[in-house]
Amino acid sequence: MMNKDALGRQLRDLRISVTDRCNFRCIYCMPREVFDSNHQFLPKQKVLSLEEIARLAGVFHQLGVRKFRLTGGEPLLRRNIDYLIRELASLPDVDVALTTNGSLPPSRIEQLRDAGLSRMTVSLDSLDDAVFKAINDVGQSVARVLEWIAAAEQAGYKPLKINMVVKKGLNEDSILPMARYFRERGHILRFIEFMDVGTTNGWRLDEVVPAARILEIINSEMSVEAIPPSYPGEVARRYRYQDGSGEIGIIASVTQPFCGGCVRARLSADGSLYTCLFSDSGHNIRDVLRAGATDDELARSISAVWQRRDDRYSELRTSHTTLPSRKVEMSYIGG
Ligand code: GTP
Ligand code: 5AD
Ligand code: SF4
Ligand code: SF4
Repeated sequence: MMNKDALGRQLRDLRISVTDRCNFRCIYCMPREVFDSNHQFLPKQKVLSLEEIARLAGVFHQLGVRKFRLTGGEPLLRRNIDYLIRELASLPDVDVALTTNGSLPPSRIEQLRDAGLSRMTVSLDSLDDAVFKAINDVGQSVARVLEWIAAAEQAGYKPLKINMVVKKGLNEDSILPMARYFRERGHILRFIEFMDVGTTNGWRLDEVVPAARILEIINSEMSVEAIPPSYPGEVARRYRYQDGSGEIGIIASVTQPFCGGCVRARLSADGSLYTCLFSDSGHNIRDVLRAGATDDELARSISAVWQRRDDRYSELRTSHTTLPSRKVEMSYIGG
């Protein structure tokens, strides 16, 4: 086994995209003009099988990864995802989480739990149907996602994290209703600054609602105070309601970048390893795997990639840049 010390300390968290497809067309992630019927999604033979993902996860685990998050696209569109969860959860001392848009039949939640899913994050950008439909662009109602959330609570996922991307002129008015609603129900709402992911979402700095402004809006009605991170390298800054009624998070990757503490790698559905959410290209691990590499050889490839990394995209971003010129799409790399 290669020297895992240098790597083990840094690479702790692997986000695995299990599919590049989604049943939503969120305007900030998979805009319909780009992700239309002509869009080429990954062909099946390029997509890692769940067995291949499980094998790679074992190698990442040997290298020190203790947290796996399944993402997409929409990860629950991938068949037999329970199998993968079971494999991941069988590794010692791991946290297995999933981010979903909460639009599929909630009857599946118990299977996910029984397979060993430890935590769930649900994306929801507004409680107002008209606003939510304008964002998801497929006519999905808020009620459907709230049903999912209720079923997840029933299955024991409490608190959930709820992700709300905030975009200026689109859903700022949803900030307070969302905060009230989820505070009441004991879930952790996280506000995410709209990011310039991919090359297709038409991002402009003036469309970002800065974390400071989000806090001002919250404080206008419910006072909050900062609290320490719950683990080193946490992406969200945490705040608690001063009346003790719970907490919120703000993910300010635009106005307060956090590259210094970044311990995350991303594995795309077709088996490329990305050392940054904003990379222009990944490192093809699938071909190494399919060429018959041993676990040690895979571990060496992965750690070589990780040790060469010097990513700090968010810290280098300027008001008008999109460096590098072709960043990978978020729906492909999984947020
Ligand atoms: P926990 O394990 O519960 O702490 O999850 P998390 O905070 O990593 O949350 P989640 O996976 O839901 O990430 C929320 C959002 O934060 C993502 O969808 C991205 O928009 C953003 N984000 C997560 N990781 C990174 C990162 O490494 N860099 C940047 N720039 N943004 C990130
Ligand atoms: N900026 C910030 N967050 C985004 N997400 C998708 N696109 C963007 C963007 N442009 C979020 C989703 C989901 C998570 C996986 O990424 O809302 O919660
Ligand atoms: Fe929306 Fe998430 Fe699907 Fe992107 S992957 S279109 S953010 S639901
Ligand atoms: Fe990590 Fe890249 Fe995000 Fe910075 S921009 S925190 S390096 S993923």
